[in-house]
Amino acid sequence: SASDKGGWSSFMAKEISEEPEAVAKTILGRTHDGLVQLNELDPIGDEALRDIDRIVIIACGTAAYAGMLGKYAIEQWSRIPVDVELSHEFRYRDPILSDRTLVISISQSGETMDTLMAVKYVHDKSKAHLLSVCNTQGATIPRESHAVVYTHAGPEVAVASTKAFVAQVTALYLIGLHLAKVRGTLDDAAIRAAVDELQAVPDKLAEVIDVAQGQVGQLAHWMTDTQSVLFLGRHVGYPIAMEGALKLKELAYIHAEGFAAGELKHGPIALIEPGQVVFVIVPSPRDPSSLHPKVVSNIQEIRARGARVIAIAEKGDAAVLPFADEVIPIPLAGSLFEPLLAVVPLHIFGMELADAKGLDVDQPRNLAKSVTVE
Ligand code: G6P
Repeated sequence: SASDKGGWSSFMAKEISEEPEAVAKTILGRTHDGLVQLNELDPIGDEALRDIDRIVIIACGTAAYAGMLGKYAIEQWSRIPVDVELSHEFRYRDPILSDRTLVISISQSGETMDTLMAVKYVHDKSKAHLLSVCNTQGATIPRESHAVVYTHAGPEVAVASTKAFVAQVTALYLIGLHLAKVRGTLDDAAIRAAVDELQAVPDKLAEVIDVAQGQVGQLAHWMTDTQSVLFLGRHVGYPIAMEGALKLKELAYIHAEGFAAGELKHGPIALIEPGQVVFVIVPSPRDPSSLHPKVVSNIQEIRARGARVIAIAEKGDAAVLPFADEVIPIPLAGSLFEPLLAVVPLHIFGMELADAKGLDVDQPRNLAKSVTVE
């Protein structure tokens, strides 16, 4: 009913507005003296966590894209190799698991059958440690795991996941910082700096929602006849590109694909013809990895072939302005934290475009919130 939506036009609109809170509540009570303290990991124990030589993240859909972001952060901070696998692909090829493997499952509902079966497989066939990142207290997947870090996004009703996604990324970042502390791969000052960045995310999210709402809403209204939309991103922008594409498929029934920007020249650039809409997630010009000029040159390449470029870029990034048809600004943040901000305009875009096409934003055709069949 309308009252459950608290005056919002849809659950999805309400849930996007709750993204800042979802991050804040997921951090709450898990820091101490500026460092991360995840008592939920005690059942596995610091000794075992010091011995881990590999992490496998398993999930489906949006949760798998959160997992990809987790990979970048956990590898950078803890120096443990991380693989991300779709749950339904994972268990059908005799995966290599040992008592030094940490398997992290991610599921909003905690009931997704593909992920549950993968978790049960790990439980029954290996000595690997099983950690669940879940948004639903007491769900089946956390019950089948050795430890659980709950995301505190609150109940998510809309089929397309939004606030659970940012909460999942937050939980994975906390896990990454906990591992870095236990293993001594980051000093306390570096952990504190990362915790500060994470704690600054909710306010920045509120700012993005504020700025993007009108701008993205207008774009969506111009694009109701669009047949295909591409998304490009690099490094942590890559999972965001795929998440943006997934939202458009799910909600607006538009053919959409996300690509790693570096892959453009190896195929996808052939798709660019005049009028093709391309969203580009632009890394910060302050990013030490110097990916920014490379992505700007990708923009020039597709622009030269007639693409309509919508750039999601750091506020004040002057280099993209001459080449983009539209720039959606996001606040300054460290490179690992930018994707948490860049994803919001894409969540809003999917919702607004579906709405502009007169579609049911909360209940897209053929989909279920929680897929309890394999
Ligand atoms: C379904 C939903 C997606 C969700 C995926 C994983 O396919 O439509 O939005 O990302 O399941 O759900 P989970 O509850 O495991 O996070």
